[in-house]
Amino acid sequence: MATILAIESSCDETAAAIIKDGKLLSNIVSTQIEVHRKYGGVMPEIASRLHAENISVVLQECLETANVKLEDIDAFAVTRGPGLIGALHVGLQAAKTLALLYKKPLIPVHHLAGHIYANEFVGDLEFPLLAVVVSGGNTELVLMKDHFQFEIIGETRDDAIGECYDKVARVLGLPYPGGIPIDKLAKEGEHTYDLPIPLKGEHTYDLSYSGLKTNIINLVHHLEQKGEKVNVPNMCRSFQDVAVGLVMDRTIKAVKEYGVKQVILAGGVSANSYLRSEMNREIPKLGCKIIIPPMWCCTDNAAMIAKVGEHLYERKMFADLTLGVDPNWRIEDFDKYEN
Ligand code: KG4
Repeated sequence: MATILAIESSCDETAAAIIKDGKLLSNIVSTQIEVHRKYGGVMPEIASRLHAENISVVLQECLETANVKLEDIDAFAVTRGPGLIGALHVGLQAAKTLALLYKKPLIPVHHLAGHIYANEFVGDLEFPLLAVVVSGGNTELVLMKDHFQFEIIGETRDDAIGECYDKVARVLGLPYPGGIPIDKLAKEGEHTYDLPIPLKGEHTYDLSYSGLKTNIINLVHHLEQKGEKVNVPNMCRSFQDVAVGLVMDRTIKAVKEYGVKQVILAGGVSANSYLRSEMNREIPKLGCKIIIPPMWCCTDNAAMIAKVGEHLYERKMFADLTLGVDPNWRIEDFDKYEN
């Protein structure tokens, strides 16, 4: 076992965490959400600058909270991708500098592996498992037959589910990030709008969200042109039923076909109350366990990067200081660090 300091900066959270012999000593997250809200989405250049401004403060607070000195750290883990290129660079440069100064290993971590392994803060992973990764940038079903054996069996062919929530929210005049207000309003609405089921009738584990998004944008504009008002709670409910329904359909089919023992949720959209309740209701009926991450680890944080860092430290999966970021890093290539 070891003491690992982890850094996460792939999108709009600057985060650092320290884990020692399996115990989380500190987990500091500085979110930029208020700044990006003005623009209705994450502005990459602003995100990079804020990471650069915040990283040292976050690191200092992380060390103080854990009551650990940099000399006591055995390895530095960092998110190498996927994410925004400039944002990733800030975290990676910080981790490389620390690794160089303190002559300790550098551990590159895949962001989505982080979201998946965050579930270890709740319970042990049991294989074969299906990780349902639903976030602002990714939507994929990952089959794991063992630790670090990632096989993507289905993924979005276009937009990520979280991106779709955010764009639908924008057209309905709701604030960013759109998942939260849509989730809330959907509870007050009814499914009255007839929206298309994406990839209906296709035998696939893939998903698709851009057609659904375009359909809603067109429908809203059409109603506005006719001088009619959109019933926002009903639209939220109709959209959420279809968006989450698609994830449920793929998950249930995969559990049956692959004899999965456990389903785990990962990523920002796993905070969605309807998705959580549907998973809790449907998955046990299939004789399969379900782990739902606590809210604090649905959003980006470095505790999950530290968790993966621990596993990779034991496996001695280190990188040298020529390491670069990979904004499009696929989880199946989590152990390939080409620059
Ligand atoms: O994992 P995350 O921080 O993004 C990436 O790293 O890609 O997730 C952010 C996404 C946003 O699109 C946001 O709208 C969505 O998660 N989200 C939700 C909810 N809370 C956050 N989507 C649906 N329901 C929610 N309750």
